[in-house]
Amino acid sequence: MSLTTEIQKRRTFAIIAHPDAGKTTLTEKLLLFGGAIKTAGAVKSNKIDTATKSDWMEIEKQRGISVATSVMGFEYKDIKINLLDTPGHQDFAEDTYRTLTAVDSVIMVIDCVKGVEIQTEKLMEVCRMRNTSVICFINKLDREGRDPYDLLDEVEEKLNIKVRPLSWPIGMGKSFKGVYNLYDKKLNLYTPSQRQLSDDRLTIEDLEDSKLVDKIGPNYAEQLREDVELIEGVYPDFDPQEYLEGKVAPVFFGSAVNNFGVNEMLDTFIQIAPGPKSRNTEDREVVPEEKNFSGFVFKIHANMDPNHRNRIAFLRICSGRFERNKPYNHVRGTKPLRFSNVTSFMAQDKEIVDEAFPGDIVGLYDTGNLKIGDTLTDGENMTFKGIPSFSPEIFREVINKDAMKTKQLEKGLKQLMEEGVAQLFTFEMGSRKVVGTVGQLQFEVIQFRLKNEYNATVEFSPMNLYKACWISSKDKKALDEFVRSKNRHIARDKEGKLVFMAESKSWLQMVQDNYPDIEFHFTSEF
Ligand code: G4P
Repeated sequence: MSLTTEIQKRRTFAIIAHPDAGKTTLTEKLLLFGGAIKTAGAVKSNKIDTATKSDWMEIEKQRGISVATSVMGFEYKDIKINLLDTPGHQDFAEDTYRTLTAVDSVIMVIDCVKGVEIQTEKLMEVCRMRNTSVICFINKLDREGRDPYDLLDEVEEKLNIKVRPLSWPIGMGKSFKGVYNLYDKKLNLYTPSQRQLSDDRLTIEDLEDSKLVDKIGPNYAEQLREDVELIEGVYPDFDPQEYLEGKVAPVFFGSAVNNFGVNEMLDTFIQIAPGPKSRNTEDREVVPEEKNFSGFVFKIHANMDPNHRNRIAFLRICSGRFERNKPYNHVRGTKPLRFSNVTSFMAQDKEIVDEAFPGDIVGLYDTGNLKIGDTLTDGENMTFKGIPSFSPEIFREVINKDAMKTKQLEKGLKQLMEEGVAQLFTFEMGSRKVVGTVGQLQFEVIQFRLKNEYNATVEFSPMNLYKACWISSKDKKALDEFVRSKNRHIARDKEGKLVFMAESKSWLQMVQDNYPDIEFHFTSEF
């Protein structure tokens, strides 16, 4: 098969949702449709239940298990679908943000009872930064949820994206009858079933057709006609191009647990969702059809056993053909790298692959050469952009409790940061080291792993910090002056970039007002 055909076949996406909205359930149903699994219940939720919420060892164990399900590949109607899993626990949100850099589109699941929740808002911000195409699936229609019009308004308002319903619910909760698909003019009748795989769809081009009344009764038929008229009047026609550019999100309604509306969405997904998109490097845009291979590492999964310190690096292929055992240029490194142990992720099996194509994700066994954000190429020296660090939310100073093990500590910290466990900032004055995370759990993870794998003992001392802001200025003198006058609050990130460590929101605002020539950024790429 030609490279172009391989590229056109691929769709790489992630499902994002606030915990409990139905991400795991939807994933499982998609895999069932794709024939990748045979029975329901095969996909384990990567959500942490309340009993183990603070037990990070348990979480790490689950993270270990979830390596196999980190990427789930399956074929559906001749399309190769790569579904990337995102961690369920919000303390690992940074992992999710990075996963989103490796997909071309997302499906966002919203619980119709709860509406838009906080985690969805945060994830959507990340999607918006890259204009990722978004399909919205409003789930749990078998429950008495909120009014669909209100839900759509909420999505537009809170997630700051235009919506366009492509299906519309008829009734809800106990009186839920089904959905009418506005895109292909089909009526999809609801029959609660956890087993049935295909939707019961009936084409009704004209809503005055008597078949409609036969199926749902005169009252629901009348309501549907009114709703459809209103929607077609209020919302402009669906424009697939606007969806591809991330400007409008098509919306579907359904009930994942009942297999309802999932098949319908998947059929539309393969028609409209983007294939492998072009990606920017610091110098130029790379298009997937380029003959030469290129890709970047967006995730690293470490083996926590100190005797087997191998790790799996997840590589997103951006252009050309990737081949096993071929030496590739490791742009940040000094020597070419060759990978003999390359796995693809089809269904829940990992298997060795000899080649892979743009849109694919492969797992590379690595002994410590790779870090998140690394670019591999056929030879060209370029680095992919778009894997920014975000300002952490919790900061603590690293206190070394065993001066004899300083070297081990430095090494351990460096490696853990390369895996993306947390972010390290080093203050310019006094070289104090500060670890920043989005959740409490990471501190326990780091402390344990430093001891267990590097024999270094640390404690963390809380710091009163609000945000880490990457700073820049067009005026070099102004930047130098700012760094000098605020030197007690200036640190460097792992790449040596300048960061202003702000103690509070109001103080940051004041500093921003006082230094109009300085730009403050909340991500490391700007
Ligand atoms: P998550 O991965 O987004 O965290 O959510 P998950 O799929 O685990 O779903 C959360 C809960 O919502 C599960 O119930 C699941 O069965 C339920 N659910 C998913 N889709 C629907 C739906 O369409 N309708 C209804 N009524 N419920 C739905 P649970 O009680 O937490 O777990 P379980 O014992 O049912 O597995």
